[in-house]
Amino acid sequence: RMRAELDELLATAQDAEDQFMMQQEFKTYHKLFSRYLNEAGSTIKWDKIQPPADDLVIPFEELAAEARLPPKELLSKLAVLKLNGGLGTTMGCVGPKSAIEVRAGQTFLDLTVRQIQHLNTTHGVSVPLVLMNSFNTHEDTLRIVRKYEGIEGVNILTFNQSRMPRIFKESLTPVPQTADDPDRTHWYPPGHGDVYASLERSGILDALRSMGKEIVFISNVDNLGATVSLPILDKMVSSDGDIEFIMEVTDKTKADVKGGTIITYEGRSKLLEIAQVPSDKVEEFKSIKKFKIFNTNSLWCSLPAIKRLVNDNALNMDIIVNNKSLSDGSSVIQLEQACGAAMEYFRGAIGVNVPRSRFLPVKKTSDLLLVQSNLYDLVSGSLILSPLRIGGPPVIKLGAEFSKMAGYQSRILSTPDLLELDHLTISGDVILGSDITLRGTVIIVASHGEHIDVPSGAVFENKIVTGSLRI
Ligand code: UTP
Repeated sequence: RMRAELDELLATAQDAEDQFMMQQEFKTYHKLFSRYLNEAGSTIKWDKIQPPADDLVIPFEELAAEARLPPKELLSKLAVLKLNGGLGTTMGCVGPKSAIEVRAGQTFLDLTVRQIQHLNTTHGVSVPLVLMNSFNTHEDTLRIVRKYEGIEGVNILTFNQSRMPRIFKESLTPVPQTADDPDRTHWYPPGHGDVYASLERSGILDALRSMGKEIVFISNVDNLGATVSLPILDKMVSSDGDIEFIMEVTDKTKADVKGGTIITYEGRSKLLEIAQVPSDKVEEFKSIKKFKIFNTNSLWCSLPAIKRLVNDNALNMDIIVNNKSLSDGSSVIQLEQACGAAMEYFRGAIGVNVPRSRFLPVKKTSDLLLVQSNLYDLVSGSLILSPLRIGGPPVIKLGAEFSKMAGYQSRILSTPDLLELDHLTISGDVILGSDITLRGTVIIVASHGEHIDVPSGAVFENKIVTGSLRI
């Protein structure tokens, strides 16, 4: 029935080009939906899970010592791809998360471009920057990157990931009624697992191959620590095709117990996500002793291997069912896939255990505060922990008033000095003025009905502020 419904939707497409694109997307969608119906209830068998074999996850330091090939030769084979299709819903972004300003008017996208430009000019190479957008992020992204046209050392290619119809949870029928239904909430981008099929469908994969590119480095656009690593690239190139996929993982701490981990399952290396874990095993999954590492979503993939797997229809990554509700209250579902889950289909896939500095995600506004602050120095578009900082980054907890971008921006007038901060908790109706310094443990809590204004120029060291404070 879904096929008929999709055909009906297709028939409403206004022009032939739109119709062709949608036809390709719907083919993928139909497969996803059929798998969803057929595979419901099939979960991973816990007793078949084994920790990754010793040679499956290599320490980064080992690779760095081994690297052999000259950078220019390595980089001539590389393209860098940033996943830029998500909306950053957790942070209440209205446009792409990559359009948020991190430093002095520079957005995530600007900093990424700067990183690649620096790489290209330093080594005299031309590594293209490929952006995977979605219908939600495309226009804003083009507006930001337009200024780089014709700039030396910058070659930006963009393509759109698929746009898929959300489905009503009860009736399992598509929400959009016509192909050009302009209501964005009726459609969705199906997760970053879509990157492989969309690279091929858009023609970008072939374009990269014709430029002599063999490897694509894929990472989250908000992870400014995901810079090009020559030792990892060397490992892949010098394997002569034996290693088709490398996943960057890093040591798990108590703060990131939910991240996917690498396991050996029925003789293959596989990503295990929390959503696949039976409920009585979740605590075991979260244990940092049993599962020591987690996926940073920075992946190195062979382009010919992606082409082969997509064309063979071989990428059957696990389906994530995401429940949402529309503004009229109706329950809908969207079927998604994650790019790291493709690991098991590539030949010779391994993990590389990288230092934490390569994983600087911005998922919450508290992460944003860290990267915006003087804890990090900006060096050619990369964020480096300040040498003036003693120890790792502080722990920051921001209350609900700060959790969306609008609240965060209106309540923190300028980023405080956090160089000597260990722990910060802010909750309630609090406003931070400019040029504030926070040191040690600082807790600022305004209870219901109270308001705290932290005055400009304040220096708080090991301080607890509660109640009302208006200046
Ligand atoms: P996440 O799924 O972790 O989410 O995406 P997010 O978009 O950062 O934030 P939330 O969960 O909505 O709050 C990781 C990366 O994958 C991209 C995102 O843009 C981000 O860079 N992504 C996500 C896509 O490119 N397409 C998607 O369909 C989903």
